[in-house]
Amino acid sequence: MQLNLDFKGRHVFIFGGTTGINFGIAQAFARQGASVTVASRKKENVELACKQLAELGGQVHGVCADVRDFEAVGRAFEEAVHNFGAIDVLVSGAAGNFLCEAKDMSSNGFRVVVDIDLVGSFHVLRQAYPHLKKPGASVINVTAPQSFVPMRYQVHACAAKAGVDQLTRVLALEWGGEGIRINSISPGPIEGTEGFRKLMAPTEKERAAAAAHVPLRCFGTLDDIANLALFLSSPYAGYISGALIPCDGGGAIESVKPALEGAGHASLLATR
Ligand code: HXC
Ligand code: NAP
Repeated sequence: MQLNLDFKGRHVFIFGGTTGINFGIAQAFARQGASVTVASRKKENVELACKQLAELGGQVHGVCADVRDFEAVGRAFEEAVHNFGAIDVLVSGAAGNFLCEAKDMSSNGFRVVVDIDLVGSFHVLRQAYPHLKKPGASVINVTAPQSFVPMRYQVHACAAKAGVDQLTRVLALEWGGEGIRINSISPGPIEGTEGFRKLMAPTEKERAAAAAHVPLRCFGTLDDIANLALFLSSPYAGYISGALIPCDGGGAIESVKPALEGAGHASLLATR
């Protein structure tokens, strides 16, 4: 079930928008008549996403760019703005993750996630800034519960996503005067996504354990996150900025995350 809001003639740019949660957001905006630009690293993902979005009827443009490459991110925005004009809605959601204990993580393993999630988000927001509609643009960072809930085996993602939420808050301060709103969406476990497969529930047993620890006792859908993105970018959310909004069935208030602790790692019991 999807919110019905009119985005006809609006330019929506979604970095990391070719698969999973962010692609769900792209589909929702395309259904509401927006001109949608999606960008990510892999040509095959960009091409497939554009083909599927075009079938929804709106104007679509795809760009291949790695968020770690500041210049390439800048070129992606110039190309997109040349096609569809100034950006009304920017979603920054490119991310990478893997499970690994800190004591086994290499420097490069830590750095790669911080580079994609945190430095990459800065690149996207910084390069988008000159092209954002002022006043009126809505910017959304896709973060994660890791930004405020410490999770084992994810020191890199926890550190990076906490940083992304601080980008949201600082830029809400700096850009608010120009009429730009910026918020974070923090999805809980969203079924059928890469993050869900990798981190939450690689097996049926872990799936059941993960569901049991969501207060609403179920997983989220792509539409749950897309609806929040549509709402946040609509005039109904015109006074919301600098907010970190969980969409997680209440997961943010649940303190124990055993599903992640069981994901193929040795017993956590210690002697003393
Ligand atoms: C330990 C690992 C590892 C693993 C990679 N590394 N995978 N270390 N365990 N499973 C280490 C490598 O050994 C290397 O360090 C360094 O990380 C870089 O690895 P590369 O493969 O060269 O990096 P790259 O090709 O740039 O790929 C980045 C990536 C990859 C993050 C590793 O997984 C990726 O592209 N992911 C994008 C898709 C994704 O992850 N989506 C899920 C997002 S979910 P050395 O020292 O050997 O050089 C999410 C939150 C969900 O963000 C929250 C749910 C609650
Ligand atoms: P996903 O499908 O892997 O989405 C990640 C997207 O980012 C892909 O389109 C990927 O495309 C792109 N990307 C990755 N590295 C990139 C880079 N260096 N430069 C440019 N683009 C890059 O994963 P997902 O699970 O849907 O996650 C989407 C977002 O939701 C992420 O921000 C994640 O942290 C957040 N999240 C997910 C969950 C969940 O349950 N899935 C929960 C909480 C938060 P390419 O491979 O083509 O680059």
